[in-house]
Amino acid sequence: MNAMNPILEVEQLSLGTRSNKTLVSDVSLKVAAGESIGLVGESGSGKSLTLRSIIGLLPSGIEQVGGTIRLDGRGAMIFQDPVRALDPLCPVIKQLAEVVYYRQKVSRKASRTIALELIEMLGLPDSLKQKDRYPHQLSGGQCQRIVIAMALACKPNLLLCDEPTTALDVTVQRQILGLITSLQKELGYAVIFVTHNLAIASSMCSRLIVMKEGRIVEQGDTFSVLQRPQHPYTQMLINSVLPLPDFERRADQ
Ligand SMILES: Nc1ncnc2c1ncn2[C@@H]1O[C@H](COP(=O)(O)OP(=O)(O)OP(=O)(O)O)[C@@H](O)[C@H]1O
Ligand SMILES: [Mg+2]
Repeated sequence: MNAMNPILEVEQLSLGTRSNKTLVSDVSLKVAAGESIGLVGESGSGKSLTLRSIIGLLPSGIEQVGGTIRLDGRGAMIFQDPVRALDPLCPVIKQLAEVVYYRQKVSRKASRTIALELIEMLGLPDSLKQKDRYPHQLSGGQCQRIVIAMALACKPNLLLCDEPTTALDVTVQRQILGLITSLQKELGYAVIFVTHNLAIASSMCSRLIVMKEGRIVEQGDTFSVLQRPQHPYTQMLINSVLPLPDFERRADQ
């Protein structure tokens, strides 16, 4: 990583409730331009809150109580549940054009043209360019592509992905992950990818950060973390990945 010039620098971040309950403590991380980081850890360990704080979208009642966040450029976030991220009453193409209009500050006409281009870039069917297509007419995978298009319409240099494929079946999951990676090569954004799936994190990300109970317990390059996990929790995570059955040996028997 280009450690001298990170686009995101989080230092000793702490988040808590108004009633003084600490939810995230002392989180420090850096992201370089174009880099992919995997954020893994048990449920409730503070992954989503950390991402939300980076783009200033903390839920009401939660506050930053310590530390600093410096993001050089624009962040955009993709949430876990694509269907809920869309307005069911607004045609898909209109929603997309609306995001382009407000984020790119172009004319209404230009925003429609860019929205149509995004539909193509994301490999969505031409039928979605029509003005009478609503979110309920889309599959889960198509909804997630629209949500990704909306995030890309913000022209982010940091894309925060909060378990963007857990609601999708495995083949669609693979397509969406491929899309995020191939567009990353084209557009050059950095990614923080939250997942429970260590295999996904390690295939997509050059560095891993492991969180537990609101703290980072380990971070390093993916290979070293997987080969020589230092923290017992990381060791446990790695050991809990089920190995594939040894079909070759069985076939020999
Ligand atoms: N709006 C909220 N109000 C109060 N507590 C919250 C709120 N959102 C999250 N928390 C608490 O903050 C902690 C961290 O939550 P967070 O959603 O960041 O976990 P996570 O690592 O993303 O978990 P998961 O893998 O299940 O999505 C949890 O203990 C959670 O209960
Ligand atoms: Mg979460």
